[in-house]
Amino acid sequence: MRLALYQPDIPQNTGALLRLGACLGVPLDIIEPCGFALSDRQLRRAGMDYIDPEGYERHADWESFRDRLPGRLLLLTTSGDQPYQAFGYRAGDTLLLGRESAGVPQEVHEAADERLVIPMRPGRRSLNVALAAAMVLGEALRQTNGFTCE
Ligand SMILES: C[S@@+](CC[C@H](N)C(=O)[O-])C[C@H]1O[C@@H](n2cnc3c(N)ncnc32)[C@H](O)[C@@H]1O
Repeated sequence: MRLALYQPDIPQNTGALLRLGACLGVPLDIIEPCGFALSDRQLRRAGMDYIDPEGYERHADWESFRDRLPGRLLLLTTSGDQPYQAFGYRAGDTLLLGRESAGVPQEVHEAADERLVIPMRPGRRSLNVALAAAMVLGEALRQTNGFTCE
């Protein structure tokens, strides 16, 4: 299981996701360009000492990320057609999160193998990207026996 961030804007969210990945043993793919420098002090502060240089991979753009995908690409999107809790995950899946300000472009939306949604109450726009990732990753690891501390 992997997490991937499409052109993240907010270093605190990326730091929180690096920390989540480090704690659960899930590598992170960061699809650039980002809206900040990866060495930002804010990013270090958010990730603290959990940032492991081997725990994430940077990709120059969408195409280079796509060309190196190891398995299925599951896009998390508010316009998804499958509720995440009813989906069947595999250990080789990558969970792709959209940009905080704009999600993902249509090309990326269409390239995903599946589009998953976390159902929300009517009228609510979206969850924080790190919280959305944590919810779906937890379910995906539960289904695939991916919690390494067990
Ligand atoms: C702040 S949201 C992006 C909002 C953006 N304005 C849009 O239209 O997509 C950042 C990312 O969190 C994830 N996300 C947030 N809420 C979600 C939900 N209810 N279901 C699935 N993914 C969600 C998606 O990956 C989304 O691209």
